[in-house]
Amino acid sequence: MAREGVTIREARADEYSSVVDFINHHFVPFEPINKAIQLCEQGYRIPYFDAWLLVRLRCPETITVIAEDGSGDLLGVGFAVVYPSSGESKLEPITIKDKCPKKFRTIMDFLGWFDDQASSKDENSNKDGKKVDRLDYTILCGRSDIRVPGIGTEIVKKIMSVGVSAGLTHHTVLCTSAFSAKICQKLGFEEVFSYPYADYKVDGKVVFPTEPPHTEARFYSKAF
Ligand SMILES: CC(C)(COP(=O)(O)OP(=O)(O)OC[C@H]1O[C@@H](n2cnc3c(N)ncnc32)[C@H](O)[C@@H]1OP(=O)(O)O)[C@@H](O)C(=O)NCCC(=O)NCCS
Repeated sequence: MAREGVTIREARADEYSSVVDFINHHFVPFEPINKAIQLCEQGYRIPYFDAWLLVRLRCPETITVIAEDGSGDLLGVGFAVVYPSSGESKLEPITIKDKCPKKFRTIMDFLGWFDDQASSKDENSNKDGKKVDRLDYTILCGRSDIRVPGIGTEIVKKIMSVGVSAGLTHHTVLCTSAFSAKICQKLGFEEVFSYPYADYKVDGKVVFPTEPPHTEARFYSKAF
């Protein structure tokens, strides 16, 4: 159950820009690998990242969930995108002129590598010998100034139920944070793969010197 006075619901399309603002404010500076690599100084925006978020939020199959208090102020957000079994992405291309910044590319390279390692080990990706569509929880984020305990868990539960109602039976989460990993464990996801940040090096240097307890990335999967 969500806390009294807190509503957990799907976001409307006219709320996507508030979701992007929220992610910039509360996710970019604080998510463990963003923080470790100092992706962006607080208050600055990465136009490429905003565009990257918006193509995902605007994709009709994406499930975007928000938590709000009684005054309608956001307390948390999360969204999940569908990776069709056909391999054909339905995401629009990113058309802005700004290039992908080097640090964001470094993060994407890690997440891509990690996803490849994990996906090949994920037995839930096939059902009755056929590859199934996958719902991947892309971003999960609560307020950085006040933590409302349980918000992260409630957002994940809502994404899960909306996804299942939409007929999506394979859900995955790449947890870069020990806290999101706790949520997945609690909600019955299976850990498929993990990798310590201390071992992920480029030219002999640790790329993401994260702070404890965020010592490894973990990939979780659940079949419904
Ligand atoms: C991940 C995140 C959304 C979790 O949100 P939350 O509202 O704290 O989630 P919950 O309250 O449901 O807590 C999840 C678990 O993490 C633990 N946790 C969360 N914050 C904690 C903290 N600061 N210190 C210790 N434990 C913490 C909780 O105790 C809980 O475990 P429990 O159920 O065993 O008690 C939030 O930490 C966040 O926004 N982090 C920054 C962005 C980020 O890292 N996103 C995840 C990337 S994969």
